[in-house]
Order: sequence, then structure tokens, then C-alpha cells
Amino acid sequence: MSTPVFITGVAGFLGSHLADALLARGHIVRGIDNLDGGYKDNVPDGVEFRDADCRDMASYADLLTGVDLVYNCAAAAYEGLSVFSPSHVYEHTCGATVAVASASIQAGVRRIVHCSSMSRYGEGEPPFTEDMTPAPLTPYGIAKYASELTIRSLCDTHGVEYNIAVPHNIIGPRQRYCDPYRNVAAIMINRMLRGERPVIYGDGSQIRCFSFVDDVVSCLVRLGEDPAVRGEVVNVGPDENPVTVRTLAETIAEVIGIPCDPIFMPERPLEVHHATCDSGKARRLLGYETRTTLREGIVSMVDFIRERGVREFDYDIELEIVSGLTPATWTERLI
Ligand SMILES: NC(=O)c1ccc[n+]([C@@H]2O[C@H](COP(=O)([O-])OP(=O)(O)OC[C@H]3O[C@@H](n4cnc5c(N)ncnc54)[C@H](O)[C@@H]3O)[C@@H](O)[C@H]2O)c1
Repeated sequence: MSTPVFITGVAGFLGSHLADALLARGHIVRGIDNLDGGYKDNVPDGVEFRDADCRDMASYADLLTGVDLVYNCAAAAYEGLSVFSPSHVYEHTCGATVAVASASIQAGVRRIVHCSSMSRYGEGEPPFTEDMTPAPLTPYGIAKYASELTIRSLCDTHGVEYNIAVPHNIIGPRQRYCDPYRNVAAIMINRMLRGERPVIYGDGSQIRCFSFVDDVVSCLVRLGEDPAVRGEVVNVGPDENPVTVRTLAETIAEVIGIPCDPIFMPERPLEVHHATCDSGKARRLLGYETRTTLREGIVSMVDFIRERGVREFDYDIELEIVSGLTPATWTERLI
């Protein structure tokens, strides 16, 4: 019988797919989520789940008993929103991580795998490599990088192993698609399936590489299991086929079978124009390989959203700063 693995954010997009993969490998999986950004029905059968907030350590300390490996997937993963709701994002990203690290170390876990974000690189010269000095621009990126530094400091001090995964622009089924603040592909699909036009901030020439969730999950599994990979920061995701946001919209329209006629809105503050990562280290250390194309990933998302049904967008996070810079899509609820 394997020792239990603990996943934070297990009702979220990445955490729930990771739970599937670990269950399939015979692990006992426990997990928490406060359900702010995930769906309860994302949690796979077989996971010992609790609706708990990472910051409330006492509420899940018992679940950490006997745990060998912790994956920290929980976060308020809202980069664009973070300049308008910085307190919420910081609290549920950095505050949550510090509490999870503290509770995990107290419980005597062997290893923590922490999910960071490409936002750590800010406006560095793409493709971003792990040896670049992080220069995050947004409160989200800063919170993600502060989380990394805290994990490293606490784990080094207390003799706990750690790895930092740096995912970027993941797509796939189970991603929250009723959220007007993030997940560009999911927003576009939900809108287009509702007969609405996709919304693009700026002129749509922003460049990204989209990762299919399974390709990211296989890297996370290795970052947790491989005894030889320790204390590493690794970009997990493709560096092939960079696409513009406009091409993303066109691909979705083509898959759904409708014309692409985007609504262009003013660009959002601090949005990096060209953000792609180098995957060489992931290939070398984790056997990373891009197995699913962007189009295949979009097809699986469209199928998933069709099956669950399109939804109204849910403006459940309060805008803390409302000014002339705040996108009208949010203040006027245009999405
Ligand atoms: N999806 C991407 O493109 C992407 C890219 C880079 C990094 N990441 C990182 O990967 C991780 C997973 O992202 P995701 O896309 O699955 O997001 P997600 O929102 O689907 O999952 C995160 C989960 O964390 C939960 N959560 C938030 N605050 C919490 C708290 N205080 N206590 C307990 N649960 C809490 C949310 O309810 C949500 O279910 C995050 O750390 C994110 O920053 C994601």
C-alpha cells in the first residue's frame, strides 16, 4: 500500500487531473479545496476530499498525517485581475502557500511540489529559461515568486525536498469556464457556444504556447516521484507552435464551426506581449513531450463544455480597485 499523497486545489483544473493520474498509479490521494475557483464535481472518485481553505491549517492537519508527498496546486490563479483585486489574489496565492508549506513540514512530509507560473518571468526575453532572474510584474506573478522563495527557504531549513513546476497557459477539460477574469480559451469557448463573439484584449497579437493538461500532469508526477530530481525549478509545457491570441480564437471558431468575429477591447495593464518558455530542461529531466496539439486540446474542451452545458459568467470576486484602467468587460459585466 502506498503512502498518501496530498493535493491542494484538488477541485481545480490541474489538481483534479493530477489526482486522476496519481490514483491510476495506485496512490492514496487526499486533497482540499475551498471551491473558490474549482468545481466540486471535478474531484475524482476515490479522493479523500475536504472543503477546506489552505490558510486554515488546523482544518486539514489530520489529512496530512502519514503523507509522503504534497502537491500545492491551490492558488487564486488570476494574473490580469491581480492588479485590480491584489489582496484577494495575494492572500489565496502566497498566504495559502505559506500555510500549506508550514502545515506540511510540521506533519513531516518528505517532498513538496509547488506549482508556480510563467508570470514569474515578467517581461524577460522569451523563450524564458529557468536560469533567468525572475522579474514578475503583476501582484499574481510576485505572489507566485514569493511563494517559491518561501517554499525554498522553509524546505532547505527543515530538510524537506521540493521541486517547483512552472506551467504556462494550460488548456483542457474541467477548466473553470464561467469565470470572466481568466482562462482565455475557456471564456472564448463558453461565449462562442452561447452564440456570442469572442473578446480579445488589445489587437490579439499576444504570443503564447498552450499546454494540454495531461502533458503537464506527467511532468508533475515525475517531479514528485523521481528521487534524482530535487530542488529544481522546471518549466512544464511546450515551446513548439507559439500562437497569437487571435489564432486561438480562430482555432476555436473553426472547431465549433462558426465564423470568427472577435470584439476587440483595450489592452489590459501589465499584460506581457510575448510569453513563451523554453522546455529543454523539462525534456532532459522529466522526459517532457508535447503529445496533444492545440487543436486537439480545443476539441476536448469544446466537448467537455457542451456536455456540461454552457454557463452564465460568475463575477464572484470583488474588484478592489475600480478606475479608468479596470476593463469595462468586468466593471460593466460585458462578458
Ligand atoms: N492553468 C494555467 O494555465 C496555469 C498556468 C500557470 C500556473 N498555474 C498554476 O497551477 C495551479 C493550478 O491552476 P489551475 O489552472 O488548476 O487553477 P484552478 O483555479 O482551476 O485551481 C486552483 C484551485 O485552488 C483552489 N483554491 C484557491 N484558493 C484556495 C485556498 N485558499 N484554499 C483552498 N483552495 C484554494 C480553487 O478553488 C481552485 O479549485 C495554480 O497554482 C496556478 O497558479 C496554472
